[in-house]
Amino acid sequence: MKTVVRDLMTSPAITCTSSDSLATAARTMREAETGSVVVTDAGKVVGILTERDLLRAAAASADPGNDAVALWMTAHPDVLGADEEVDAAWASLTAHHYRHLPVVEGNALRGVISLRDLMGMARIRPASESSIDVPPGLEGVLVAETTVGDVRGQEGFFHYRQYSAVDLAERRSLEDVWHLLFRGELPDAAMGAAFAAEVRSRRGLPAGLTGILPALARQGAPLEVLRSAVSVLGSELGWRPTHDIDAAELADQSLGLCAVVPTILATAHRLREGLEPVEPRADLDFAANYLYMLTGRAPTAEHARAIEQYMILTIDHGFNASTFTARVITSTGADLGAAIVGAIGALSGPLHGGAPSRALDMLDAIGTADRAEAYIRRAVEDGDRIMGFGHRVYKTDDPRSLLLRSVTERLGGPLVALSQDVERTTVDVLAELKPGRQLYTNVEFYAGVVMHTCGIPRDMFTPTFAAGRTIGWCTHVMEQASHNRLIRPAARYVGPPPPQPVPTP
Ligand SMILES: CC(C)(COP(=O)(O)OP(=O)(O)OC[C@H]1O[C@@H](n2cnc3c(N)ncnc32)[C@H](O)[C@@H]1OP(=O)(O)O)[C@@H](O)C(=O)NCCC(=O)NCCS
Repeated sequence: MKTVVRDLMTSPAITCTSSDSLATAARTMREAETGSVVVTDAGKVVGILTERDLLRAAAASADPGNDAVALWMTAHPDVLGADEEVDAAWASLTAHHYRHLPVVEGNALRGVISLRDLMGMARIRPASESSIDVPPGLEGVLVAETTVGDVRGQEGFFHYRQYSAVDLAERRSLEDVWHLLFRGELPDAAMGAAFAAEVRSRRGLPAGLTGILPALARQGAPLEVLRSAVSVLGSELGWRPTHDIDAAELADQSLGLCAVVPTILATAHRLREGLEPVEPRADLDFAANYLYMLTGRAPTAEHARAIEQYMILTIDHGFNASTFTARVITSTGADLGAAIVGAIGALSGPLHGGAPSRALDMLDAIGTADRAEAYIRRAVEDGDRIMGFGHRVYKTDDPRSLLLRSVTERLGGPLVALSQDVERTTVDVLAELKPGRQLYTNVEFYAGVVMHTCGIPRDMFTPTFAAGRTIGWCTHVMEQASHNRLIRPAARYVGPPPPQPVPTP
C-alpha cells in the first residue's frame, strides 16, 4: 500500500487571512507551534507565510502591527493533492527547498505537509539528501573502487590486477597468481619459489581444529563443515577484529587461512567417508596437494594442472555475492574469520557456487545427446533454471567456460561429447524460449565435468571452488580493511504507513 500525502499531513491547517497583520500571523504560528500559516481568502489558498518570511520582514524593518500578511507572504504557492504519493511531496519540497506545502482537495484546503511530517513519520530520509534508487539485485551498481580485478561482461573478459585471468590460468601457477593478488605483483622465479615454500609450510591443521573436525565432519555437508571450521580456527588462533589489527597481521592471517582451507576440506571429506585423513605433502603444489589429500593418491600431472587451472580461473570474479558479503562484514571491522564464514555461506547457494554438481546431475539425467533437447525444453517450459547457464554480468560466452571446455577436451573421457552437445542444445533452446536474455554457458557447467574427470566427488565440487576462492575473498578483505568505510545502504519501506496504533491484546 502506497503512503499518500493525506496519511502524513497535519490537518486542519493553521490559517490566517491576507489582510491580517504580521503580528497576528506570528502569534498564530507561535500558539500552534508551527513554522508556517496558510493564507486563505474566502476559504481559497492565496499564499503561505513562513518563519523565513517573518525573518525577511524583520530584517527589512517591517512594521509587524500594521504590515499586512499579503505584503510578505509567498503568493500562489505550489500545493499538493491529498491523494498524491508521499514521494511527490518529498520531490516537491526538496527540489524547491520548501519546508511546508498546503494540501488541497479541489479548491478546499485540507492541511499542510512539512518536511518534518515526512521525516518524523517515515524516518527514512535524512533532511539534506534524498535516497538513490538502485535496480533490484544491485545490478550494475558500482559500490567500491578496487585494484583486485574486474569483469567486463559484454566483452567476455575478466582480469586480476592488470592481467587477463585466462592468460594467467594458461601460463602461471596458482601460487604465482596468489602472490599477484596478495603482494600486488607477479613473482619472478626466486620470489615465486620462496612464496610457494612459505605457503606449503602452513598447510597443517592446528591441534584444536584437528580435535573437533571428526565431530563437525559427521554433522554436515563439506561446505557447512568448512564454515564451522573457519569459525573454530579463528577462535583458536585468536584472530582479533580487523578494526584493531594492522595490515601485516591481517595479511599473515589471510595467508595461513588460504593455506589450510584445502586441508580442512580434504580431512573433513575423508572423515565423512570413514577414511583416515591424509597429511599434506610439502613437495606438492596447492592443487596437486589438495587432490592428494582428498583421494590419498598423488594425482597425475594432467589432473593436477586441470584443477589448478580451474582454481586460478575461479580465484576471484568482481563483486560477486560472496565477495561482496566478505567486504560488507569486513566493513564492520569484524575479524577475518567472520568475513570468510559469511562468504562461504553466500557461496553455498545454487545461484552462486552451488551449481556445478547440479549441472553434472543434469548431464546424468539427460544421459544421451538425443534426449537433450526434450529435457531442456521441458525444464525451461516448466520455469526451471538450467544449471551452468546464464550470468548476471556475462552477456556473451563466459571466458572461464571456454577455457574449461578446452581443459575437458584435453582430459578426454565419456562426458566430453555429451557436455558439448548439451551446451549447444541448451544455448539454442534458451535463445528460442528466452529470446533476448543472452544466456550462455557459465563457469559451473564445465567445472563439474573437469572436477568429475579428475576424481573429485560431486559433493566436493563447491568446496573445491571455495578452496581457491578463499584467496580472492582474503584479497578483498585486506583491500576493504585498508581503506574502510562501513557499508550500510538503505531500503524503501513499502508496508502500511506507520505509526499505526499498537492494538491491545
Ligand atoms: C546466474 C543467474 C542467477 C543470474 O541471474 P540474473 O542475472 O538475476 O538473471 P535473471 O534471474 O534476472 O534472469 C533473466 C531471465 O533469464 C532467465 N534465465 C536466467 N538464467 C537462466 C537459466 N540458467 N535457465 C533458464 N532461464 C534462465 C530467467 O528465467 C529470466 O527470464 P524472464 O525474463 O523470462 O523472467 C541465473 O542465470 C541462474 O539462475 N543461472 C543458473 C544457476 C547457475 O548456473 N549459477 C552459477 C552462476 S556462475
